[in-house]
Amino acid sequence: MLGELREKARARLDPVHWDYFEGGAGAETALAENLRAFARLALLPRVLRGAGPPDLAVRLPGAPAAGPVFVAPTAFHTLAHPEGERATARAAAAADAVMVTSMAATTAVADVAAAAREVRADAAVWFQMYLQPRAGVTEALVRRAEQAGCTALVVTADSPVFGRHSRDDRNDFHRLPPGHVTQNMLGLPGAPPGRPLDIAMSPELSWADLRRLRAATGLPVWVKGVLHPADARLAADEGAAGVIVSNHGGRQLDAVPAAVEALPAVAEAVGGRIPVLLDGGVRSGADVVAALALGAAAVGVGRPVLWGLAASGEAGVAQVLAELTGQARHVLTLCGARDCRDLTPDQVVPRGPEGM
Ligand code: FNR
Repeated sequence: MLGELREKARARLDPVHWDYFEGGAGAETALAENLRAFARLALLPRVLRGAGPPDLAVRLPGAPAAGPVFVAPTAFHTLAHPEGERATARAAAAADAVMVTSMAATTAVADVAAAAREVRADAAVWFQMYLQPRAGVTEALVRRAEQAGCTALVVTADSPVFGRHSRDDRNDFHRLPPGHVTQNMLGLPGAPPGRPLDIAMSPELSWADLRRLRAATGLPVWVKGVLHPADARLAADEGAAGVIVSNHGGRQLDAVPAAVEALPAVAEAVGGRIPVLLDGGVRSGADVVAALALGAAAVGVGRPVLWGLAASGEAGVAQVLAELTGQARHVLTLCGARDCRDLTPDQVVPRGPEGM
Protein backbone atom coordinates (compact mmCIF):
# COMPACT_ATOMS: atom_id res chain seq x y z
CA MET A 1 0.00 0.00 0.00
CA LEU A 2 2.78 2.44 0.86
CA GLY A 3 4.37 1.47 -2.46
CA GLU A 4 1.18 2.38 -4.31
CA LEU A 5 0.95 5.76 -2.60
CA ARG A 6 4.60 6.36 -3.44
CA GLU A 7 3.97 5.69 -7.12
CA LYS A 8 0.88 7.88 -7.11
CA ALA A 9 2.88 10.67 -5.47
CA ARG A 10 5.65 10.32 -8.00
CA ALA A 11 3.15 10.54 -10.87
CA ARG A 12 1.52 13.68 -9.42
CA LEU A 13 4.56 15.66 -8.37
CA ASP A 14 6.76 17.93 -10.44
CA PRO A 15 9.87 15.73 -10.93
CA VAL A 16 12.06 18.43 -9.36
CA HIS A 17 9.92 18.45 -6.20
CA TRP A 18 9.82 14.65 -6.18
CA ASP A 19 13.62 14.65 -6.21
CA TYR A 20 13.68 17.18 -3.35
CA PHE A 21 11.44 15.00 -1.19
CA GLU A 22 12.98 11.69 -2.14
CA GLY A 23 16.67 12.48 -2.39
CA GLY A 24 19.57 12.37 0.02
CA ALA A 25 23.04 13.74 0.45
CA GLY A 26 26.09 12.78 -1.60
CA ALA A 27 25.91 9.33 -3.13
CA GLU A 28 22.70 8.64 -1.14
CA THR A 29 24.41 5.82 0.76
CA ALA A 30 22.90 6.70 4.16
CA LEU A 31 19.49 7.06 2.53
CA ALA A 32 19.70 3.54 1.04
CA GLU A 33 21.23 2.09 4.21
CA ASN A 34 18.28 3.27 6.32
CA LEU A 35 16.10 0.88 4.31
CA ARG A 36 18.65 -1.91 3.91
CA ALA A 37 19.39 -1.99 7.64
CA PHE A 38 15.73 -2.74 8.43
CA ALA A 39 15.70 -5.39 5.70
CA ARG A 40 18.67 -7.07 7.43
CA LEU A 41 16.70 -7.48 10.67
CA ALA A 42 14.38 -10.33 11.61
CA LEU A 43 12.05 -10.61 14.60
CA LEU A 44 12.04 -13.51 17.06
CA PRO A 45 8.52 -13.83 18.44
CA ARG A 46 7.84 -15.08 21.97
CA VAL A 47 5.00 -17.56 22.40
CA LEU A 48 2.35 -18.47 24.98
CA ARG A 49 2.83 -15.32 26.95
CA GLY A 50 -0.85 -14.57 27.52
CA ALA A 51 -0.21 -11.03 26.37
CA GLY A 52 -3.84 -10.19 25.60
CA PRO A 53 -4.94 -7.51 23.18
CA PRO A 54 -2.14 -5.14 22.18
CA ASP A 55 -1.90 -1.61 23.56
CA LEU A 56 0.16 0.70 21.39
CA ALA A 57 -0.18 3.93 23.33
CA VAL A 58 3.04 5.57 24.46
CA ARG A 59 3.68 8.34 26.99
CA LEU A 60 6.22 10.94 26.00
CA PRO A 61 7.22 14.34 27.31
CA GLY A 62 4.91 16.62 25.32
CA ALA A 63 2.52 13.80 24.35
CA PRO A 64 0.94 11.95 27.27
CA ALA A 65 -0.99 9.52 25.05
CA ALA A 66 0.11 9.02 21.47
CA GLY A 67 0.54 6.22 18.98
CA PRO A 68 3.99 4.74 18.40
CA VAL A 69 4.34 6.37 14.97
CA PHE A 70 4.92 10.13 14.71
CA VAL A 71 5.19 12.51 11.81
CA ALA A 72 8.86 13.50 11.49
CA PRO A 73 9.48 17.15 10.59
CA THR A 74 9.73 17.73 6.85
CA ALA A 75 9.78 21.01 4.99
CA PHE A 76 7.55 22.47 2.26
CA HIS A 77 4.31 20.45 2.45
CA THR A 78 2.49 22.85 0.10
CA LEU A 79 4.75 21.56 -2.67
CA ALA A 80 3.14 18.15 -2.11
CA HIS A 81 -0.46 19.34 -1.78
CA PRO A 82 -2.22 22.74 -1.77
CA GLU A 83 -3.49 22.17 1.80
CA GLY A 84 0.08 21.45 2.89
CA GLU A 85 0.85 21.08 6.59
CA ARG A 86 -2.79 21.69 7.56
CA ALA A 87 -3.80 18.45 5.84
CA THR A 88 -0.90 16.58 7.46
CA ALA A 89 -1.79 17.96 10.88
CA ARG A 90 -5.45 16.97 10.59
CA ALA A 91 -4.56 13.41 9.58
CA ALA A 92 -1.98 13.11 12.37
CA ALA A 93 -4.42 14.41 14.99
CA ALA A 94 -7.10 11.96 13.87
CA ALA A 95 -4.59 9.10 14.13
CA ASP A 96 -3.32 10.15 17.60
CA ALA A 97 0.08 10.68 16.01
CA VAL A 98 2.37 13.45 17.21
CA MET A 99 3.00 15.90 14.39
CA VAL A 100 6.39 17.56 14.43
CA THR A 101 6.04 20.62 12.25
CA SER A 102 9.18 21.99 10.66
CA MET A 103 10.61 25.45 11.08
CA ALA A 104 10.83 25.27 7.27
CA ALA A 105 7.12 24.49 6.94
CA THR A 106 5.11 26.35 4.32
CA THR A 107 2.34 26.93 6.90
CA ALA A 108 2.81 28.97 10.10
CA VAL A 109 3.06 26.88 13.26
CA ALA A 110 -0.06 28.57 14.70
CA ASP A 111 -2.11 27.46 11.68
CA VAL A 112 -0.70 23.91 11.82
CA ALA A 113 -1.58 23.60 15.50
CA ALA A 114 -5.04 25.09 14.95
CA ALA A 115 -5.74 22.60 12.16
CA ALA A 116 -4.73 19.72 14.44
CA ARG A 117 -6.89 21.00 17.30
CA GLU A 118 -9.94 21.29 15.06
CA VAL A 119 -9.77 17.52 14.85
CA ARG A 120 -8.82 16.81 18.45
CA ALA A 121 -8.55 19.39 21.20
CA ASP A 122 -5.54 17.69 22.81
CA ALA A 123 -3.64 16.91 19.58
CA ALA A 124 0.12 17.01 20.14
CA VAL A 125 1.99 19.31 17.76
CA TRP A 126 5.72 19.79 18.35
CA PHE A 127 7.84 22.49 16.76
CA GLN A 128 11.16 21.55 15.12
CA MET A 129 13.81 24.20 14.97
CA TYR A 130 17.40 24.85 14.01
CA LEU A 131 18.96 27.08 16.68
CA GLN A 132 19.58 30.40 14.96
CA PRO A 133 22.85 32.25 15.47
CA ARG A 134 21.21 35.67 15.07
CA ALA A 135 20.15 37.12 18.42
CA GLY A 136 16.45 37.09 19.13
CA VAL A 137 15.44 34.86 16.21
CA THR A 138 15.45 31.60 18.15
CA GLU A 139 13.59 33.21 21.02
CA ALA A 140 10.96 34.71 18.70
CA LEU A 141 10.39 31.28 17.17
CA VAL A 142 10.06 29.68 20.60
CA ARG A 143 7.42 32.27 21.58
CA ARG A 144 5.47 31.52 18.40
CA ALA A 145 5.57 27.80 19.09
CA GLU A 146 4.45 28.35 22.68
CA GLN A 147 1.65 30.70 21.65
CA ALA A 148 0.53 28.20 19.03
CA GLY A 149 0.08 25.64 21.81
CA CYS A 150 2.93 23.32 20.82
CA THR A 151 3.71 20.89 23.61
CA ALA A 152 7.41 20.30 22.86
CA LEU A 153 10.35 21.68 20.90
CA VAL A 154 12.61 19.54 18.73
CA VAL A 155 16.08 20.95 18.16
CA THR A 156 17.71 19.44 15.10
CA ALA A 157 21.39 19.17 15.96
CA ASP A 158 22.77 17.27 12.97
CA SER A 159 22.95 20.28 10.70
CA PRO A 160 25.96 22.53 11.44
CA VAL A 161 25.80 23.21 7.70
CA PHE A 162 23.27 22.44 4.95
CA GLY A 163 23.47 18.94 3.51
CA ARG A 164 24.56 18.68 -0.10
CA HIS A 165 21.65 17.19 -1.97
CA SER A 166 22.94 15.92 -5.28
CA ARG A 167 19.53 15.79 -6.96
CA ASP A 168 18.71 19.39 -5.98
CA ASP A 169 22.09 20.52 -7.30
CA ARG A 170 21.46 18.71 -10.57
CA ASN A 171 17.96 20.23 -10.82
CA ASP A 172 19.16 23.64 -9.59
CA PHE A 173 16.39 23.54 -6.94
CA HIS A 174 17.46 25.98 -4.27
CA ARG A 175 14.48 28.35 -3.91
CA LEU A 176 10.80 27.81 -3.31
CA PRO A 177 8.64 28.58 -6.35
CA PRO A 178 6.30 31.60 -6.17
CA GLY A 179 3.28 31.08 -3.94
CA HIS A 180 5.14 28.93 -1.39
CA VAL A 181 6.61 30.67 1.67
CA THR A 182 8.39 29.47 4.79
CA GLN A 183 5.74 31.18 6.91
CA ASN A 184 7.49 30.68 10.25
CA MET A 185 10.37 32.82 9.03
CA LEU A 186 8.24 35.90 8.26
CA GLY A 187 8.43 38.97 10.50
CA LEU A 188 11.38 37.77 12.57
CA PRO A 189 14.13 40.12 13.79
CA GLY A 190 16.22 40.98 10.74
CA ALA A 191 13.73 39.64 8.19
CA PRO A 192 13.27 41.83 5.12
CA PRO A 193 9.73 43.30 5.05
CA GLY A 194 7.23 40.87 3.52
CA ARG A 195 9.88 38.23 2.93
CA PRO A 196 10.99 35.29 5.06
CA LEU A 197 14.32 35.23 6.81
CA ASP A 198 16.64 32.58 5.40
CA ILE A 199 17.18 29.68 7.79
CA ALA A 200 20.76 29.78 9.03
CA MET A 201 22.87 26.80 9.96
CA SER A 202 25.93 27.28 12.10
CA PRO A 203 28.90 25.13 13.14
CA GLU A 204 29.39 27.38 16.18
CA LEU A 205 26.39 26.04 18.06
CA SER A 206 27.09 24.06 21.22
CA TRP A 207 25.42 22.64 24.31
CA ALA A 208 25.60 26.15 25.76
CA ASP A 209 23.06 27.25 23.10
CA LEU A 210 20.82 24.36 24.03
CA ARG A 211 21.11 25.40 27.68
CA ARG A 212 20.04 28.94 26.73
CA LEU A 213 17.07 27.55 24.87
CA ARG A 214 16.04 25.41 27.82
CA ALA A 215 16.29 28.43 30.10
CA ALA A 216 14.03 30.40 27.74
CA THR A 217 11.14 27.93 27.71
CA GLY A 218 9.18 25.63 29.93
CA LEU A 219 8.52 23.23 27.05
CA PRO A 220 10.26 19.86 26.89
CA VAL A 221 13.20 20.04 24.45
CA TRP A 222 14.07 17.02 22.32
CA VAL A 223 17.43 16.76 20.54
CA LYS A 224 17.10 15.33 17.04
CA GLY A 225 19.92 13.91 14.97
CA VAL A 226 21.86 12.07 17.66
CA LEU A 227 23.89 9.06 16.49
CA HIS A 228 26.84 8.88 18.93
CA PRO A 229 26.06 7.32 22.33
CA ALA A 230 28.22 9.93 24.08
CA ASP A 231 26.01 12.70 22.68
CA ALA A 232 22.91 10.89 23.89
CA ARG A 233 24.43 10.74 27.37
CA LEU A 234 25.29 14.44 27.20
CA ALA A 235 21.75 15.26 26.10
CA ALA A 236 20.43 13.45 29.17
CA ASP A 237 22.94 15.28 31.40
CA GLU A 238 21.89 18.58 29.82
CA GLY A 239 18.27 18.03 30.69
CA ALA A 240 16.94 17.24 27.22
CA ALA A 241 13.48 15.66 27.33
CA GLY A 242 14.72 12.93 25.02
CA VAL A 243 16.77 12.25 21.91
CA ILE A 244 15.78 11.33 18.39
CA VAL A 245 18.21 8.93 16.75
CA SER A 246 18.23 10.07 13.15
CA ASN A 247 20.53 10.61 10.22
CA HIS A 248 18.07 13.15 8.82
CA GLY A 249 16.78 10.62 6.33
CA GLY A 250 20.24 10.44 4.74
CA ARG A 251 20.21 14.15 3.91
CA GLN A 252 23.16 15.41 5.98
CA LEU A 253 26.39 13.39 6.41
CA ASP A 254 26.32 10.59 3.85
CA ALA A 255 29.01 8.58 5.68
CA VAL A 256 26.84 7.82 8.71
CA PRO A 257 25.35 4.42 9.52
CA ALA A 258 21.65 3.67 9.22
CA ALA A 259 19.65 5.20 12.05
CA VAL A 260 18.47 1.80 13.31
CA GLU A 261 22.10 0.60 13.47
CA ALA A 262 22.96 3.50 15.77
CA LEU A 263 19.93 2.89 18.00
CA PRO A 264 21.08 0.05 20.32
CA ALA A 265 24.22 1.86 21.52
CA VAL A 266 22.28 5.07 22.10
CA ALA A 267 19.55 3.24 24.02
CA GLU A 268 22.19 1.56 26.14
CA ALA A 269 24.07 4.79 26.83
CA VAL A 270 20.91 6.55 27.93
CA GLY A 271 19.90 3.61 30.08
CA GLY A 272 16.27 4.68 30.41
CA ARG A 273 17.05 8.15 31.81
CA ILE A 274 15.24 9.81 28.91
CA PRO A 275 13.16 8.37 26.08
CA VAL A 276 14.80 7.62 22.75
CA LEU A 277 12.93 8.06 19.47
CA LEU A 278 14.09 7.02 16.01
CA ASP A 279 13.42 8.04 12.44
CA GLY A 280 14.82 6.97 9.09
CA GLY A 281 13.74 4.14 6.81
CA VAL A 282 10.63 3.03 8.72
CA ARG A 283 8.31 1.60 6.06
CA SER A 284 6.37 -1.23 7.74
CA GLY A 285 4.90 -2.39 11.01
CA ALA A 286 7.78 -4.85 11.37
CA ASP A 287 10.21 -1.91 11.12
CA VAL A 288 8.24 -0.11 13.84
CA VAL A 289 8.33 -3.14 16.13
CA ALA A 290 12.04 -3.82 15.48
CA ALA A 291 12.89 -0.24 16.45
CA LEU A 292 10.70 -0.43 19.58
CA ALA A 293 12.39 -3.71 20.57
CA LEU A 294 15.81 -2.12 20.11
CA GLY A 295 14.95 0.63 22.55
CA ALA A 296 12.92 3.29 20.73
CA ALA A 297 9.84 4.61 22.53
CA ALA A 298 8.28 5.67 19.20
CA VAL A 299 9.33 6.04 15.57
CA GLY A 300 9.02 8.85 13.05
CA VAL A 301 8.21 8.73 9.37
CA GLY A 302 9.22 11.44 6.93
CA ARG A 303 8.90 10.52 3.26
CA PRO A 304 5.92 8.13 3.60
CA VAL A 305 3.87 11.03 4.98
CA LEU A 306 4.87 13.15 1.99
CA TRP A 307 3.85 10.34 -0.38
CA GLY A 308 0.44 10.16 1.25
CA LEU A 309 0.06 13.93 1.17
CA ALA A 310 1.07 14.22 -2.49
CA ALA A 311 -1.07 11.23 -3.51
CA SER A 312 -4.31 12.34 -1.84
CA GLY A 313 -3.88 15.04 0.78
CA GLU A 314 -5.24 14.46 4.28
CA ALA A 315 -6.76 11.10 3.30
CA GLY A 316 -3.40 9.92 1.97
CA VAL A 317 -1.57 10.83 5.19
CA ALA A 318 -4.33 9.15 7.18
CA GLN A 319 -3.86 6.02 5.07
CA VAL A 320 -0.10 5.95 5.72
CA LEU A 321 -0.50 6.34 9.48
CA ALA A 322 -3.35 3.81 9.68
CA GLU A 323 -1.41 1.28 7.63
CA LEU A 324 1.79 1.54 9.69
CA THR A 325 -0.04 1.50 13.01
CA GLY A 326 -2.32 -1.37 11.97
CA GLN A 327 0.65 -3.41 10.82
CA ALA A 328 2.55 -2.61 14.01
CA ARG A 329 -0.39 -3.79 16.12
CA HIS A 330 -0.54 -7.06 14.19
CA VAL A 331 3.22 -7.66 14.38
CA LEU A 332 3.30 -6.80 18.08
CA THR A 333 0.61 -9.42 18.72
CA LEU A 334 2.44 -12.00 16.62
CA CYS A 335 5.57 -11.28 18.68
CA GLY A 336 3.69 -12.18 21.86
CA ALA A 337 3.85 -8.68 23.28
CA ARG A 338 1.08 -6.59 24.79
CA ASP A 339 2.86 -3.27 24.49
CA CYS A 340 6.22 -2.01 23.41
CA ARG A 341 7.70 -2.37 26.90
CA ASP A 342 7.14 -6.11 26.52
CA LEU A 343 9.60 -6.24 23.62
CA THR A 344 13.27 -6.92 24.27
CA PRO A 345 16.37 -6.39 22.12
CA ASP A 346 17.03 -10.15 21.92
CA GLN A 347 13.87 -10.40 19.79
CA VAL A 348 15.72 -8.67 16.96
CA VAL A 349 18.26 -10.83 15.15
CA PRO A 350 20.28 -10.40 11.97
CA ARG A 351 18.71 -12.00 8.93
CA GLY A 352 22.12 -13.07 7.64
CA PRO A 353 23.62 -12.59 4.19
CA GLU A 354 21.33 -12.85 1.18
CA GLY A 355 18.30 -13.20 3.43
CA MET A 356 19.38 -16.68 4.61
C1 FNR B 1 13.46 16.20 6.13
N1 FNR B 1 13.95 16.15 7.45
C2 FNR B 1 13.94 17.30 8.20
N2 FNR B 1 14.37 17.27 9.50
C3 FNR B 1 14.33 18.37 10.26
O1 FNR B 1 14.71 18.30 11.43
N3 FNR B 1 13.88 19.56 9.75
C4 FNR B 1 13.44 19.67 8.47
O2 FNR B 1 13.02 20.75 8.03
C5 FNR B 1 13.49 18.52 7.65
N4 FNR B 1 13.09 18.58 6.35
C6 FNR B 1 13.04 17.43 5.59
C7 FNR B 1 12.54 17.49 4.30
C8 FNR B 1 12.41 16.33 3.55
C9 FNR B 1 11.85 16.40 2.18
C10 FNR B 1 12.81 15.08 4.12
C11 FNR B 1 12.66 13.80 3.34
C12 FNR B 1 13.32 15.03 5.38
C13 FNR B 1 14.34 14.87 8.06
C14 FNR B 1 13.15 14.15 8.69
O3 FNR B 1 12.74 14.79 9.86
C15 FNR B 1 13.47 12.70 9.08
O4 FNR B 1 14.66 12.68 9.84
C16 FNR B 1 13.62 11.77 7.88
O5 FNR B 1 12.76 12.11 6.84
C17 FNR B 1 13.34 10.33 8.32
O6 FNR B 1 13.58 9.45 7.29
P1 FNR B 1 12.44 8.82 6.33
O7 FNR B 1 11.25 8.43 7.16
O8 FNR B 1 12.13 9.88 5.32
O9 FNR B 1 13.14 7.65 5.75
